[in-house]
Amino acid sequence: MSDTFDFSGKIVLVTGSSRGIGGAMITGFARCGARCVVNYVNDRDGRNKADAERVGAKLEDALVIECDVADEQGVARMMTQIGSALGGLDILVNNAGILRDRTIKKMTMADWDAVLKVNLTGAFNCIHQAAPILRNGGRIVNIASLSAAMGIFGQANYAASKAGLIALTKVAARELAKQQITVNAIAPGAIETEILQAVPEDVKKQYLQQIPLGEFGQVQDVVNAAMFLCSASSRYITGQVIHVNGGMLMP
Ligand code: NAI
Repeated sequence: MSDTFDFSGKIVLVTGSSRGIGGAMITGFARCGARCVVNYVNDRDGRNKADAERVGAKLEDALVIECDVADEQGVARMMTQIGSALGGLDILVNNAGILRDRTIKKMTMADWDAVLKVNLTGAFNCIHQAAPILRNGGRIVNIASLSAAMGIFGQANYAASKAGLIALTKVAARELAKQQITVNAIAPGAIETEILQAVPEDVKKQYLQQIPLGEFGQVQDVVNAAMFLCSASSRYITGQVIHVNGGMLMP
């Protein structure tokens, strides 16, 4: 499906695009003609940097930028770099996200703060700092989660961050509408990524029983939804949440 879209001449930033959904997404945009910015955050063993360079090397003329979305100054520098190197930004996908699952009884303030800081404050930071370089008619897509609507056990921090992200999506949609910039969210369900591979088989079976379409989602299913929301075809859709979950929840 992604091949049906044309993003020639568009500048795209997907945060956290060194692997997983973000990596597939930035690759998809590049295949459809966009000029792409791959973003990653440094980690202790240098894996994210290596992953980001591998993703960037496969794309034509991609910029690869290290930046922690939770770092206000770092995000300001990233947007300035994009503005001066590429002349502006057309599409921002706030994809960077982390998990620190624990029950509320066991969750520390550090667990709570870390997740809120990346998943919610990080997205605010990026929208706030991208505003000066975002072109009229641009697109913002925020990657939320099924957990925001369902409240998954052990995910107080994560669910709250993603629910906050959905509220932020609606406010940004209203505020940026005068520039014809649309802002929407995607709420993926259980998608086949590294996270799911680590889940025990019996728990996976329980999940599958709750999915009417009978299978886990693929990364490409989320990419396809993002491509649609960033295309000209979605010009009249803003402030919405698209659930990509095989029918697991129908809010
Ligand atoms: P992942 O863990 O494979 O990738 C996350 C990416 O975010 C990595 O590239 C990492 O380097 C980057 N990142 C983490 N912290 C960052 C920071 N502070 N600054 C910049 N980049 C940072 O995750 P996955 O599975 O690809 O998920 C992507 C998004 O989709 C996340 O927001 C996640 O919450 C959401 N999601 C994923 C689901 C799944 O089943 N995989 C289900 C629902 C939502």
